[in-house]
Amino acid sequence: MVIIMDRMNELIELINKANYEYYALDNPTLTDQEYDRYMQELIKIEALHPDWVREDSPTKRVGNEVISEFKKIIHEKPMLSLSNVFNEDEIRNFDEKIKKEVNPNYVCELKIDGLSVSLLYKQGKLVRGATRGDGVTGEDITHNVKTIKTIPLVLPQPLDIEVRGEIYMSKKSFNQLNEIRKANGEELLANPRNAAAGSVRQLDSKIAASRNLACFIYHLPNPEQFGIKTHYESLQFMKSLGFDVNSNIELAKNLDEVLQYINKWTGKRNSLPYEIDGIVIKVNDFEQQKKLGFTSKYPKWATAYKFPALEVLTKLKDIIFTVGRTGQVTPNAVLEPVRLMGSVISRATLHNEDYVLSKHIKIGDIVSIRKAGDVIPEVVNVKKERRNGTELDFKMIDVCPICHTKLIKKDTAYYCVNNNCDKTKIESLIHFVSRDAMNIEGFGEQIIEDFYNMGYLKIVTDFYELHKYKKELMELEGFGSKSVNNLLTSIENSKNNSLERLLFGLGIRHVGSKTAKILASNYQNIDNLMLAQYEDLINVKDIGAVIAKSVVNYFKNNCYLIEKLKKLGLNMKYLGEVRSDIEFSGKTFVLTGSLTNITRNEARNIIEQLGGNVSGTVSKKTDFVILGENPGSKYDDALKLNIPIWDEKTFLTKISKYFDKD
Ligand code: IVH
Repeated sequence: MVIIMDRMNELIELINKANYEYYALDNPTLTDQEYDRYMQELIKIEALHPDWVREDSPTKRVGNEVISEFKKIIHEKPMLSLSNVFNEDEIRNFDEKIKKEVNPNYVCELKIDGLSVSLLYKQGKLVRGATRGDGVTGEDITHNVKTIKTIPLVLPQPLDIEVRGEIYMSKKSFNQLNEIRKANGEELLANPRNAAAGSVRQLDSKIAASRNLACFIYHLPNPEQFGIKTHYESLQFMKSLGFDVNSNIELAKNLDEVLQYINKWTGKRNSLPYEIDGIVIKVNDFEQQKKLGFTSKYPKWATAYKFPALEVLTKLKDIIFTVGRTGQVTPNAVLEPVRLMGSVISRATLHNEDYVLSKHIKIGDIVSIRKAGDVIPEVVNVKKERRNGTELDFKMIDVCPICHTKLIKKDTAYYCVNNNCDKTKIESLIHFVSRDAMNIEGFGEQIIEDFYNMGYLKIVTDFYELHKYKKELMELEGFGSKSVNNLLTSIENSKNNSLERLLFGLGIRHVGSKTAKILASNYQNIDNLMLAQYEDLINVKDIGAVIAKSVVNYFKNNCYLIEKLKKLGLNMKYLGEVRSDIEFSGKTFVLTGSLTNITRNEARNIIEQLGGNVSGTVSKKTDFVILGENPGSKYDDALKLNIPIWDEKTFLTKISKYFDKD
């Protein structure tokens, strides 16, 4: 008899150890066959000797408990959530506030994307597992928690203790689960978090048992009970009790180390076997935590940095139509504003009629949106299961929303072909000043629309005659002499641009910035290009029939416009290859004060030729400030923002290898 009982105890130790090694350490030590054999042997012994069955037997995890309802429980201490921060500024702010009260060390942790759980042990035995609920009242999910193999059923010491952590499903288990569901024709689960939450909210624990859930423990609500002084120590303590504590937790002495941790895991996030949605930053010392205290919802001593969401759900409130510079009419979704990858989104493109119809998008739908190419938000798909019957069908319009001209369909797109459509003209002007085109600073889209409506700007040549209205412009609300002067200087500077910028800015159909460059470098000046025949053009590398036809057609109809731009003093020549320099390329420069050996205009052209660009205001996006004599407030801004400053001599030395001044 004793021998059989010894064998039972041996099997329990063996299997529990194997579970820990497999689930917590990700280091399997038994083969599946060995594991199954031991398990079957144990089940047999327990069936013969039901009074021997131990609390911590792994057979308790197979999920033979079915409950009829979820009992409500009240948490001894409220289970609080965490405040969120979304960018470096907000993290700095969090740190500043903390440092006003204490001198902190931080603990940085991965923010596991699952659901939080409270585990209660009496005399070392797991007696209750509960969800967070509303923080005060949760639900009893003990029957399901017991099936999770990384949660000890019995602790090595007979302690009364509560610990808290996150139940989650690994990416691998999630994919396997969805494979099975797919094979059975069942609906797929959206993500591991939903899958984990759905699993613990089942009355029949067999389901949770079959789902391969796991649990990381990250919080000890009553550390004083064990004489523990810091959060980091509490993690070591809970680990020593057999809980699975995430191995990527690190101490950070200061904000810089916190930011390093965040950077590291932002990059390595995808390599983890489970999903994380951010980083949790906690003050380490419990005395300091106590001093900092709580708000009604959050501890003030911790926060969660949330990774930018790649895809989010929101309500599509309406579909509106916009007209682009080519006259193309595009449906756009008006959204309930949501935060996505660091910005708040309230509009997203729906591309064209076919796109909306193929995705069965209706007005009022809950939709998921993401940033296409990380820039333009687009509607990816519809959550049909969230419909309530009030959604409205989409219908493409057949006249231009601005000028009411009948739209013409070409392939999948609809166009307003009215050359006098106001919206098309405004969009063309906006395009002309844009960064890759003439790069005229200071013209927001609204200013262009206002100037258009006031009659100052109708076609692109009007930019170069705007100086005639200087006085009137200075009297407009929001336009002082400084901003008008800046605007006129930017316009004046743009006259020196190389030909490709102008070609792109003119908005010739099918001529993007790359094609504009090919045309400019092949033909060197606009006269040559205007004389080029279709047959010449298609012989140029990378220029095909569609582009060639469009270019010939454009110049046939726009000779007058080009002549006028010439008369206004615009450069019409290709100024040569940009000599991209690593120190300049892609960098933003701001000039302040007067330069003595070089004019501002020359400095700007040189920076642009080396691949950089020049901006009028200092912001976080500025890479370098070039300092002349008697600098203005831009100098103070640069100092405040810690932006590297070059004096004129430094700047001249850096460019001397390209541009000798004598
Ligand atoms: S600490 C008072 N640490 O994130 C301390 N939470 O958005 C409370 N979470 O409700 C939580 N990983 O469900 C903490 N390492 C971690 C976490 C974590 C995931 C969850 C938890 C919490 C939510 C807040």
